[in-house]
Amino acid sequence: MFVHKAAVVGGGTMGGQIAQAIANSDTPVVIKDVDQQFVDHAIEEVRNVTLGQLGSKVKKEKITQEQADARLEEVMGQVTGTVSYDEFGDVDFVIEAVPEKMQIKQAVFAELDAVTPGHAILASNTSSLSISEMAEATLRPDKVVGFHFFYPASVMPLVEVIIGDETSSETVQVASNFAQDIGKQPITCGEVPGFVVNRILNAAVGRSGAPRKSEGFRSRRSTRAWAAPTWLRWARSSWPTCSASTPSTTPPSTWPAPTAAASTSIRA
Ligand SMILES: NC(=O)c1ccc[n+]([C@@H]2O[C@H](COP(=O)([O-])OP(=O)(O)OC[C@H]3O[C@@H](n4cnc5c(N)ncnc54)[C@H](O)[C@@H]3O)[C@@H](O)[C@H]2O)c1
Repeated sequence: MFVHKAAVVGGGTMGGQIAQAIANSDTPVVIKDVDQQFVDHAIEEVRNVTLGQLGSKVKKEKITQEQADARLEEVMGQVTGTVSYDEFGDVDFVIEAVPEKMQIKQAVFAELDAVTPGHAILASNTSSLSISEMAEATLRPDKVVGFHFFYPASVMPLVEVIIGDETSSETVQVASNFAQDIGKQPITCGEVPGFVVNRILNAAVGRSGAPRKSEGFRSRRSTRAWAAPTWLRWARSSWPTCSASTPSTTPPSTWPAPTAAASTSIRA
């Protein structure tokens, strides 16, 4: 299935950024929030991010100002905003980006199940909650999947495609293709705490001798800078069941438990 029209539910920190990535790939996207001021803010975010991207190209003389102006109008022409589900009757792919509370997410998934066409895939940008539990609120658990962006989603290339208990392989394939269509690199993973990236970061920071303040690492940024090469090396050697192309649902027995202390330093 090809995604001709997408929707983002929740126009907060992540929603506006995700909508920008979609609109910038020339896919129509509708942003839904509970209040018009949040919708307007999300659309403004799409405009500002796009302006920034185009401004940088003009500065490098890759495009002219006239081309940038025309492109801005093209991108903004893909975006609509709403506080109702009126425009959801023909969407193919919805990304939920409402607050990280299962009760809110389940309510949204139940609503989406009622207002979207039967073929539509319902995805969640959750960082930590169970996709299977969200799917329970719908009559289409096979079409519910995790679709986890990292902040800022307009820039960060990775999208984790998370497979719930009943997510079908077709859904995973469509989600992975859609991620690529909007210029992202999908990786698939089973439903495990921290998914891929946060689990690796947590393990690297929390269990592998991460530098402490007493060793001169004062800021979160310096700790993360230290952790990045470490977890990349570790990921290459210890992550046999997560793949950039092949879905996997079986966690290896060697996965370390995530630590509560480490999880506070990650914004994803
Ligand atoms: N902020 C990050 O850095 C980050 C990174 C990766 C993933 N996430 C995940 O993305 C999701 C959204 O996070 P955020 O930081 O954008 O949250 P946020 O609080 O900034 O935005 C949430 C938006 O959802 C809206 N909303 C609430 N209930 C709604 C409903 N029933 N229908 C429609 N809209 C509703 C709110 O009005 C708000 O605008 C969470 O699951 C979070 O874990 C966040």
